[in-house]
Amino acid sequence: MSRKKENIVVLSGAGISAESGIATFRDSGGLWEKYAIEDVATPEAWQRNPERVLQFYNERRRQLREAKPNAAHKALAGLEEKFDVQIVTQNVDDLHERAGSHRVLHLHGELMKARSTVDPQLIYDWNGDIRPGDCCEKGSQLRPHIVWFGESVPAMEDAIPYFRTADRLLVVGTSLAVTPAASLIHFVPDSCPVFLVDPDIGLLPPIPNLRYIAMKAGEGVPLLVKQWLEEK
Ligand code: OAD
Repeated sequence: MSRKKENIVVLSGAGISAESGIATFRDSGGLWEKYAIEDVATPEAWQRNPERVLQFYNERRRQLREAKPNAAHKALAGLEEKFDVQIVTQNVDDLHERAGSHRVLHLHGELMKARSTVDPQLIYDWNGDIRPGDCCEKGSQLRPHIVWFGESVPAMEDAIPYFRTADRLLVVGTSLAVTPAASLIHFVPDSCPVFLVDPDIGLLPPIPNLRYIAMKAGEGVPLLVKQWLEEK
């Protein structure tokens, strides 16, 4: 008789993709040092200057096309061999999917998709630039499929039940500075061990059963995954 696999939930942030060459947001040299959030990542920025917003995300998309999944993304894909793994990512890149993970929920949208500005249900795969004049089938301008500051995070509704039923939680490469995403770690049962991989987290979150691994994702995640696979 086969036993039910344990549920592992992974909350990932920009740090997991840093070793793939994608800049984080709040580290020194991070994106929010070079750009003002209110110029490129809010609905008001889009109203004021859509060209600038498109240019910002076009640049991110071009960079992503050149990037490859790293050892951390790949190790998490391998974890599916013995566990039920649900990845909940704040990242808009597709590196978890390209590494082979099957269940990936994007809290903040996806860079490789474009969305209609009149009908949020109209979402298109998009791996080139989005240009002024690129329209949805209803004739309105396309925007990046990204959750901007000040917008709601509809994927939270799907994410919360994963955390409530987690047997283990792995948090990787996030400053936990942005809500509501950061609040998800508080939904796990008290008995759920929480592993945090980040070389420089600052203040540790006040949660029970926390084990902090002060390593880069590309080293810390494969190490942890190896241990977990060997346990089973
Ligand atoms: P941040 O830039 O806020 O935090 C990145 C975290 O990754 C920091 O804690 C770093 O110490 C850590 N880090 C850096 N290099 C690492 C490595 N090689 N391995 C592991 N960790 C590493 O990024 P997020 O927490 O993801 O939202 O930011 C959350 C949200 O804020 C983003 O989704 C984005 C941003 O504004 C939107 O744009 C809506």
